Amino acid sequence: MMGQLFSWSVFTDNDVKESNTLISAVSPEKVKEIMTELLQSLSTQNEFVGRHNGPNSADQQKMLATVNAPSLDALIDQTVPAQIRLEAPMTLAPAKSEADMLAAMKHFANQNQVKRTFIGQGYYNTFTPNVILRNVLENPGWYTAYTPYQPEISQGRLEALLNFQQMVMDLTGMDIANASLLDEATAAAEAMTLCKRAGKSKSNTFFVADDVHPQTIEVIKTRAKFIGFEVVIGAIDTLTDMDVFGALLQYPTTSGEVRDLTDIIANAQANKTLVAVASDLLASTLLKPAGEMGADVVIGSAQRFGVPMGYGGPHAAFMATRDKHKRTMPGRVIGVSIDANGNQALRMAMQTREQHIRREKATSNICTAQALLANMASFYAVYHGAKGLRTIARRTHHMTAILAAGLTKSGFELANNSFFDTITINTGAQTETLYNQAQQADLNLRKLPNQLGISLDETTTQADIAALFEVFGVDQEISTLSNEIAGNEFAAIPEACRRTSDYLTHPVFNTHHSETQMMRYLKQLENKDFSLTHGMIPLGSCTMKLNAAAEMIPITWPEFGAIHPFAPSEQAAGYAALAIDLKQKLCEITGYDEFSLQPNSGASGEYAGLIAIQRYHESRGEGHRNVCLIPSSAHGTNPATASMVSMKVVVVKCDDNGNIDLGDLADKIDKHRDNLSSIMITYPSTHGVYEQQVKEVCEMVHAAGGQVYLDGANMNAQVGLTSPGFIGSDVSHLNLHKTFCIPHGGGGPGMGPIGVKSHLAPFLPGHIENGVQGSDFAVSAADLGSASILPISWAYIAMMGAPGLTDATKVAILNANYVMERLRPHFPVLYRGNNGRVAHECIIDIRPLKEATGISEEDIAKRLMDYGFHAPTMSFPVAGTLMVEPTESEDLQELDRFCDAMIAIRQEMDQVKDGVWPLDNNPLVNAPHTQVDLASDDWSRPYSRELGCFPSSATKRWKYWPTVNRVDNVYGDRNLICSCPSIDSYEDK
Ligand SMILES: Cc1ncc(COP(=O)(O)O)c(C=O)c1O
Repeated sequence: MMGQLFSWSVFTDNDVKESNTLISAVSPEKVKEIMTELLQSLSTQNEFVGRHNGPNSADQQKMLATVNAPSLDALIDQTVPAQIRLEAPMTLAPAKSEADMLAAMKHFANQNQVKRTFIGQGYYNTFTPNVILRNVLENPGWYTAYTPYQPEISQGRLEALLNFQQMVMDLTGMDIANASLLDEATAAAEAMTLCKRAGKSKSNTFFVADDVHPQTIEVIKTRAKFIGFEVVIGAIDTLTDMDVFGALLQYPTTSGEVRDLTDIIANAQANKTLVAVASDLLASTLLKPAGEMGADVVIGSAQRFGVPMGYGGPHAAFMATRDKHKRTMPGRVIGVSIDANGNQALRMAMQTREQHIRREKATSNICTAQALLANMASFYAVYHGAKGLRTIARRTHHMTAILAAGLTKSGFELANNSFFDTITINTGAQTETLYNQAQQADLNLRKLPNQLGISLDETTTQADIAALFEVFGVDQEISTLSNEIAGNEFAAIPEACRRTSDYLTHPVFNTHHSETQMMRYLKQLENKDFSLTHGMIPLGSCTMKLNAAAEMIPITWPEFGAIHPFAPSEQAAGYAALAIDLKQKLCEITGYDEFSLQPNSGASGEYAGLIAIQRYHESRGEGHRNVCLIPSSAHGTNPATASMVSMKVVVVKCDDNGNIDLGDLADKIDKHRDNLSSIMITYPSTHGVYEQQVKEVCEMVHAAGGQVYLDGANMNAQVGLTSPGFIGSDVSHLNLHKTFCIPHGGGGPGMGPIGVKSHLAPFLPGHIENGVQGSDFAVSAADLGSASILPISWAYIAMMGAPGLTDATKVAILNANYVMERLRPHFPVLYRGNNGRVAHECIIDIRPLKEATGISEEDIAKRLMDYGFHAPTMSFPVAGTLMVEPTESEDLQELDRFCDAMIAIRQEMDQVKDGVWPLDNNPLVNAPHTQVDLASDDWSRPYSRELGCFPSSATKRWKYWPTVNRVDNVYGDRNLICSCPSIDSYEDK
């Protein structure tokens, strides 16, 4: 082992934990002894830090001169309040080179065992079409984009998401669908709250059929408890007698049964009960869809449409509902609108419903969703088309029918005779033996009390059936069984449940079936979108930093992708080891004592964190504490989440500098002392400054018996310098899709693990299957949430090491201060902290400039597109402002390109003010400009084509083109269309 320390690949073949222990056990003196100075200087171990951080040391010196700081450390001392600075550096294993990190990751991967899996329960094997794997999942053009808030530069993924909605609507038989939720279980919980909002029943009880997937029931129970609903779980036939506001049924059921729900739904609706049905997209190609049976809401997972199981996620869940409920549907909805030239253009519809605006009144707290996975699922449908999907479904069903026939002919009894892809066998006393025999044959079955479940999927082969027959001692010819079934292929699907309606008839699902066509379609859409492959995305609060290729590589390894979340735990030993190690790293970085990796987004982490707080209060007999203090500057998900756990939101004012107003805080604490549950703060604040008095805030809340939730979205400005635990908070979520390099995927996936101090550790979410924290209070469908993307954050931390991570924070602060100082002579900077410094982002105030010039923050955002940039965050946290976060990954050249563009835009604004161009016809209000504008015969504008389209020298060298003009949001909401427009409607224009 020691000998390896002399090689470049320090950790190659060894257990990473051993390696970590080894290297941390080795004293610095020993390292010095075994790694000579020359060896160290030639080593690749620290190379990644320089790849991740943008400015090199020479550029850093230039930038420090601009910000007038003698050194980087001096800048940090001037910026970060001394009282919150960590006293000692973090202790993490030394940085690994890319090669060593991948070798260590392989070691985790090798501990997972990929077996043939037939567990089902909402997760299935699937073939990711390679054209989608390579061009989407492994392509930064798709995975590094942001949520499509700026539609003019997002038409590609907006189209893919609109396709997703259309696919869901078609397959479920519903009127409208959203563009993804976090997982099937949380989608079910969202369906429950939709039923309450949209329904007329006065009941406070929600019914869940006992044949719904168990993990879904658990998430519903958690949601219901904290929102104050009763949950009744019972046999589906008992629904008729119930007085409930809503019901959740599963179709096909968790045990595979297919039954007609039409009468059950109609009877429930006659009692003012809204009915949600958890459904399966592949089954819906053969089965009468739940929408045609009268369901009010249909939810489910799109995982089996080409997205690997990944030990639980990430996958896109879907929700579809009736047109009349569209305005109360949670999540993002993509709609069709028009642009400034009257051409069709897509956008996120009904944005007014977002938590940013409606805060505690929002329909849900969902912000980051599962855009990348929804895109993959929609492309799977585009590639296969209706015919291809039907063939896949028929093959899956036929294999299941063969299996069922073989088993029953050999004397086994099935729990249900109707099925699509899942059968449950009444194995009684033989259950354990048969299960173990299957395990010995490397086959994972679903073990139930006295029963075994088997779910087949598109990957099932005749060899699989033969292996299963062997386990059950079935001596039947597959071909004979197949021939027998052929005469009545769908005999196992009740007549009333067979699909007769068409689906996926839109041309997009009937065009791109050859690989060439598909590759071109994917590329065409990709080319419409601005991503990190084009340039900086300076979105404040979003941290659009590098998502390095080495970090992304492991996520498509089958050892991570092909593991079922409920596989026997010994088969997921690699995941367990990775999770333990990642949690330890995150504890060290945050100063917390324990972590849960379960939440699938930041907002979901907030929810899990507030539940931990409420359970803690309850455990101390203080369950009445229900007031949550939230500063006015907080992200909208904070109040939206607080209301999901029935907390009363009390807003705390911020002073003129953007800091929490301590006087107001003291008053609010006094007023609500007896009922104070918690405060939710963000640090550094969303105003982009390190508040001096943050420790005092924590102390004041603690003194009144409250708990502190620190929103960790801005952790990028803390790592290595301070930490939430050190500051004094009790619980935080981290947005791994910000600070820890999980890409944003064009609007998801995300990961929002929560860290807690030890007193809250017993209240972290549990899970009914393989839960490390017990079995109750689950917030996600799988215990490790979106497990398959955890390697990204692990890889980042492993390659940076403690000094590298700390450097990244320092450089993020340097970059933000550099941009701030360059822009300050031209734009008012709204808030600055200590010594006039900002943290990792800064807010520039457009309101006075708008007053003077008539040009708005939106005009600037759109004009930036002409200059080849994504806009900064618009009007958050303060309306009429732009919040810029460059991150550490942008280099000086790119920062300058951005600052130059902003300054040029400022000069353009002056020209409008000076009357050079009219207010309604100038390069800013007409932005963005397209290639069609450039080539048009009709250029009746008071500025040149060159200025409009190539406003900077950089754009003359290389140019990203928006594909539509400014999108009309109001038109889109007034004329809400959330399905694929017909091809004619494109051609007409
Ligand atoms: C400060 C803050 N808190 C919470 C969130 C919510 O995180 P997510 O989008 O992952 O749900 C965000 C997301 O932008 C944020 O900026």
